[in-house]
Amino acid sequence: MKIAVIGTGYVGLVAGACFADLGNKVICVDVDENKIKNLEKGIIPIYEPGLKELVKKNFEDKRLFFTTDSKKAIEESKIIFIAVGTPQSDDGQADLKYVMQVCETIGKNMNESKIIVDKSTVPVGTSKKVQETISKFTEHKVDVVSNPEFLREGSAVNDFLKPDRVVIGSADKEAAKSVADLYKPLDCEILITDPESAEMIKYASNAFLATKISFINEIAAICEKTNADVEAVAKGMGLDSRIGKQFLNAGCGYGGSCFPKDVQAIQKTARDLGYEFDILREVEKVNKYQKSLPLKKLENELGNLKGKKIVVLGLAFKANTDDMREASSIEIIKGLHEKGADIIAIDPIAKENAKQLLPKINYSDSVYDSVKGADALILVTDWNEFLELDFEKIGKEMNSKIIVDGRNVYDKEKLKSLGFKYLGIGR
Ligand code: UGA
Repeated sequence: MKIAVIGTGYVGLVAGACFADLGNKVICVDVDENKIKNLEKGIIPIYEPGLKELVKKNFEDKRLFFTTDSKKAIEESKIIFIAVGTPQSDDGQADLKYVMQVCETIGKNMNESKIIVDKSTVPVGTSKKVQETISKFTEHKVDVVSNPEFLREGSAVNDFLKPDRVVIGSADKEAAKSVADLYKPLDCEILITDPESAEMIKYASNAFLATKISFINEIAAICEKTNADVEAVAKGMGLDSRIGKQFLNAGCGYGGSCFPKDVQAIQKTARDLGYEFDILREVEKVNKYQKSLPLKKLENELGNLKGKKIVVLGLAFKANTDDMREASSIEIIKGLHEKGADIIAIDPIAKENAKQLLPKINYSDSVYDSVKGADALILVTDWNEFLELDFEKIGKEMNSKIIVDGRNVYDKEKLKSLGFKYLGIGR
């Protein structure tokens, strides 16, 4: 099948490379000439495990192409995916300006009937708008399919190729079937539904996962006031298959380009329809509080933080990505900086991106060098390289042996036995 993917961000590039790997001819389109030139040279704009190799292989095998020529890509393809960004607008709703620009371009360059697949995260009802906007510019038949993406940064390729489910929403059965056929090689459930439900499934899923995280974080807050350990509680809850064990990790808050934005957007959709999505307001409130916790815990322990040397482990919003969007590290470091702390931050991949947002702090590549004379260590992102540290060695170098484990990844008893003051979240 000949496919065009418009937008080479996370979703577009991963989808394009994966569809090519499944044997389709895929043309990825972007307005950014530099990005396209780099992609042709195998230079990937984001850090995503496995993506570089997949792009290189399929580009060399001539199944994956990159261009800025949207006219050519549209004319040559039967199925066109829209995978451009839907940034948050001032009122919290997803901004559809890039989606609508793409619709106009598609409409103006349609040379036959096409299937337009919306992969961008868009509010309920957008499918109809896409149909109407494209149809303003063409006489050809336009079938719109909503096909939300559920991949996670850091495991995007794997998530795409081994999905829990694929959701396809369309008013046209044939169009839905054509898109479903693209996913047939993947061994997963394909749910075909109406476009509005498909659009809603995306927001509802992200909002639910964010709710699960804030829920366990509230349980953690109560655990701290008792003898309970939230890790044991989450395990016990998660063993109930109705609850499930994923996304029950208490910590210093969720970030990224999706949960914060989507939780706001679905509230805005609801509000516009005359309904207040109250739970989600609390979900956001809890998440904001979680981001403030490491600083609160440190102040409780150290008092005035002025001149105190604090080492921050992990900057990216989660492990295996260089993405700093809404990362908890930003709030934490800004708070420490305001209190006059002397900060050294370490991240295996996100350091350069972090420097743009947090220029006033020191950065290092070595945990063991950084901890010399440190008053405390805060784990913010649970990168693998931070999990197996030699805490005996670290403890000997530190001025005071305090550790804030913002992701509950360390063995609290072991650290205590090494003389550390261990401050986890809810344990
Ligand atoms: C999320 C969803 O998981 C994907 O299914 C969805 O496709 C994507 O958003 C999207 O809409 O594009 P992502 O933002 O890449 O994916 O990252 P997640 O793995 O979901 O983590 C989000 C945040 O939640 C991270 O900051 C992570 O540290 C935090 N988190 C996650 C917790 O605090 N506790 C947990 O138990 C799980």
